[in-house]
Amino acid sequence: MAAIRAMEDSRADRLFRDPYAERFVQAAGGDGYWDTAPTAWAGFVALMGEEVAVRTRYFDEELLRAAADGCEQVVLLAAGMDARAYRLSWPEYTRVFEIDVAEVLAFKSAVLKDAEPACERVEVATDLRLDWPLALREAGFVPGVPTAWLIEGILYALTPEAADGLLARVTSLSAPGSVVAFEHVPDSPALRAARQAISAEMANIWFGGPEGEPGLWLRRHGWTSQVRDISKVAAAYGRPVPAAFDPSREGSGPGWLGTGRLAKPE
Ligand SMILES: C[S@@+](CC[C@H](N)C(=O)[O-])C[C@H]1O[C@@H](n2cnc3c(N)ncnc32)[C@H](O)[C@@H]1O
Repeated sequence: MAAIRAMEDSRADRLFRDPYAERFVQAAGGDGYWDTAPTAWAGFVALMGEEVAVRTRYFDEELLRAAADGCEQVVLLAAGMDARAYRLSWPEYTRVFEIDVAEVLAFKSAVLKDAEPACERVEVATDLRLDWPLALREAGFVPGVPTAWLIEGILYALTPEAADGLLARVTSLSAPGSVVAFEHVPDSPALRAARQAISAEMANIWFGGPEGEPGLWLRRHGWTSQVRDISKVAAAYGRPVPAAFDPSREGSGPGWLGTGRLAKPE
């Protein structure tokens, strides 16, 4: 993901700035990583690269809007190399919690040791299969404060039951006025073939996430929802349909970006 964001950052018509992405790439693989990466990865990037660029911009906007609207806490679930705590202009008092496994967070903070976060950044080293709500509260998260949640690049790896469990936990920690932004990409023949070309592990990483229409999924958990086709969001940013979702390509499938809200009290 960082490599794709680094490529986007180098474009003149970039959809966002992420000067940190290239640092992660260099730390992970050195100069020219993508020049020498196996062609198999190039196939996956050809399908999903534009999607990552579009979703990054969409989530930047949604999270900043939520923060401006009173969400003083932001939780990045499975944060990975997401550098939003460093690169976005957060309102004062914003606290960004980054949940991921310890090894990943350690790599990230080592790479960014000289960088200054643009908010209060809190690492929460835990496993999303364990009692992460407890770890989050112990790290200073306050359930009574409206929160913006981000579910990016992780839902696909969950079974429908696990996706339901994740959203149930998010909901139970969410005060009125909270927002959840998410991406949902069900598996498709094109994505499966591109992953198979990389490795058996990659082929089997996709469990599909929530079943059915994602707006309904959110509403079942008590959120109002606004869900858009990724291709429509791309068009609004002046980008072509990302290849994995292009109906004119054989084996393509659907993909959505969405935002849910819990109503504020009158
Ligand atoms: C594809 S990356 C997405 C990272 C980031 N959200 C983004 O979009 O760039 C998936 C992330 O999920 C994290 N992850 C996978 N399984 C996890 C688990 N059980 N608990 C916590 N994090 C997990 C990985 O360490 C990785 O950083």
